[in-house]
Amino acid sequence: MRIFLDTANIDQIREGARLGVVTGVTTNPTLVSKEGLKDYRAVVKEICSIIPGPVSAEVVVEGVPEMLAQAREIATWAPNVVVKIPSTADGLEVISTLAKEDIKVNMTLCFSVNQALLGALAGTTYVSPFVGRLDDVGHDGMQLVKEIVDVFRYYQLKTEVLAASIRHPLHCVAAAKAGAHIATVPFNVLMQMMRHPLTDVGIARFLSDWRRVQQQGGK
Ligand code: E4P
Repeated sequence: MRIFLDTANIDQIREGARLGVVTGVTTNPTLVSKEGLKDYRAVVKEICSIIPGPVSAEVVVEGVPEMLAQAREIATWAPNVVVKIPSTADGLEVISTLAKEDIKVNMTLCFSVNQALLGALAGTTYVSPFVGRLDDVGHDGMQLVKEIVDVFRYYQLKTEVLAASIRHPLHCVAAAKAGAHIATVPFNVLMQMMRHPLTDVGIARFLSDWRRVQQQGGK
């Protein structure tokens, strides 16, 4: 399973890039607005220059002609940009057209296997089931990821399953076990994935033992 960062924060993206494990970024209008950023295009272009892998930028209009026009514009911003289109009937029409133009799409706000299947048939590159938001309303978000992975495998569909709305490290474990191709994670979750108290205790112990023997004249 590959790891994308789910943020529009440039510092976090730079720090994630330094770790060498982040191979893509997903943004959405909420994440971009949280940064108080004005120039959407400039922000997406900067992210695309930091992370060479897929960077998702979402359309912020409704209606087929409007989404198509904006998606085509976003697709010119950088070679690695991926356009996020919502899982609606209009979205499906837009995805089908964009797929024929070789524009990569991340079908977002996916909450059912049927939406995922139709998105894959329309030619979306990625489909994003929103795990945390399903959990929030009492459904098992990860079960949806598993079911989409199973259906895509069964029919050998090449759309990748991008587990989104990840809220904590256990979601990452479950997404990996479910066979998600990618998990997009907030920066704090990425950090939590690598931390373990026993690692910290172990390092402290090794270093103190090492220093003690040095003070006793060891080499
Ligand atoms: C994914 O592409 C979305 O940006 C994101 O994962 C949504 O997460 P949230 O439900 O925590 O807002």
